[in-house]
Amino acid sequence: MESPVVRPFPTPKSRHDDVPSLGLTRRMRRNRKADWSRRLVRESALTTDDLIWPIFLMDSSEASSPVEWMPGVDRLNIDEAVRRAAEAAALGIPAIAPFPYVDKALRDPTGSEALNTGNLMCRAVRAIKREVPEIGIICDAALDPYTSHGHDGVMEGERVLNDASVQILVGQALALADAGADVIAPSDMMDGRIGAIRTALDGEGHEDVQIMAYAAKYASAFYGPFRDAIGTNATLVGDKRTYQMDPANSDEAIAEVMLDLEEGADMVMIKPGLPYLDVVARVKDHFRVPTLAYQVSGEYAMIMAAANNGWLDGDKAMLESLLAFKRAGADGVLTYFAPRVAKKLKAGA
Ligand code: PBG
Repeated sequence: MESPVVRPFPTPKSRHDDVPSLGLTRRMRRNRKADWSRRLVRESALTTDDLIWPIFLMDSSEASSPVEWMPGVDRLNIDEAVRRAAEAAALGIPAIAPFPYVDKALRDPTGSEALNTGNLMCRAVRAIKREVPEIGIICDAALDPYTSHGHDGVMEGERVLNDASVQILVGQALALADAGADVIAPSDMMDGRIGAIRTALDGEGHEDVQIMAYAAKYASAFYGPFRDAIGTNATLVGDKRTYQMDPANSDEAIAEVMLDLEEGADMVMIKPGLPYLDVVARVKDHFRVPTLAYQVSGEYAMIMAAANNGWLDGDKAMLESLLAFKRAGADGVLTYFAPRVAKKLKAGA
């Protein structure tokens, strides 16, 4: 007897790949015909749980002052930062990431103010932890807000020194952890800093403090408005290409992430965001670890500038840009839009 012809059913790689043809026309638009159907087949979603809100701190009797190059973003004094953190927590935003505008008089070549346990960051972290204990606080470790030359480490002549910088970063991380930081996020791109910080945190009883490594951080033009916000634009001597990554490289991002994970990073981050979604996708696919992306100041400023000119629908561009991170595989996004998105999502966007 002749055996029946069995056509093997190919195993799809994803639920839209390689659906076997039955000789009929596959019409891709059928699933898009109505809202219920589009919702049913949607592959990724943005939720408030995906958001980290970067905020700027200042030492001032004024509650807030606008950042000129980032419309809608303010520098906040500590009381105001506490209020905004409470609002963010009420909206369901999991974490904030504070950055300080350090008075110019306090900046020096070695960034010594970073080690002052009474500095603006440490005072703000203590106040926010006390008043809004339910929100996560992610603190940058890098010296640029504190150095007179605007670099993330200490210098010898024209060179940014690696190991000497790591030593200071370790002290900075400990000061922040003592103040109550939940997560230390080294953004400096010195070699070996994750391991050094992990060892020091564990040695001081901070085993529970997480590390979110700025693992693949590129020497990017998109940080311009951030440097206006923390007042390093005018002071930065040269550029950061001897420590931040070359925008041309992607294999190197895999090596950077691998090292940071080996050294003890709990989460890794790619920065900037949208222009580097290929790197986000590659890192997530390769390592399957918590992978964050940073929609940086320049990305925010571009959307805001176009929206304020009437050239883009700001809300739609904001939501689409953030959904793109989720589609690429990011577990979360640092975005200056966080409270605005959270409000939109709450309203059912
Ligand atoms: C500092 C730091 C930078 C950003 C985060 N931490 C700027 C830089 O490296 O020059 C950029 C964030 C943004 O542009 O939104 N190490």
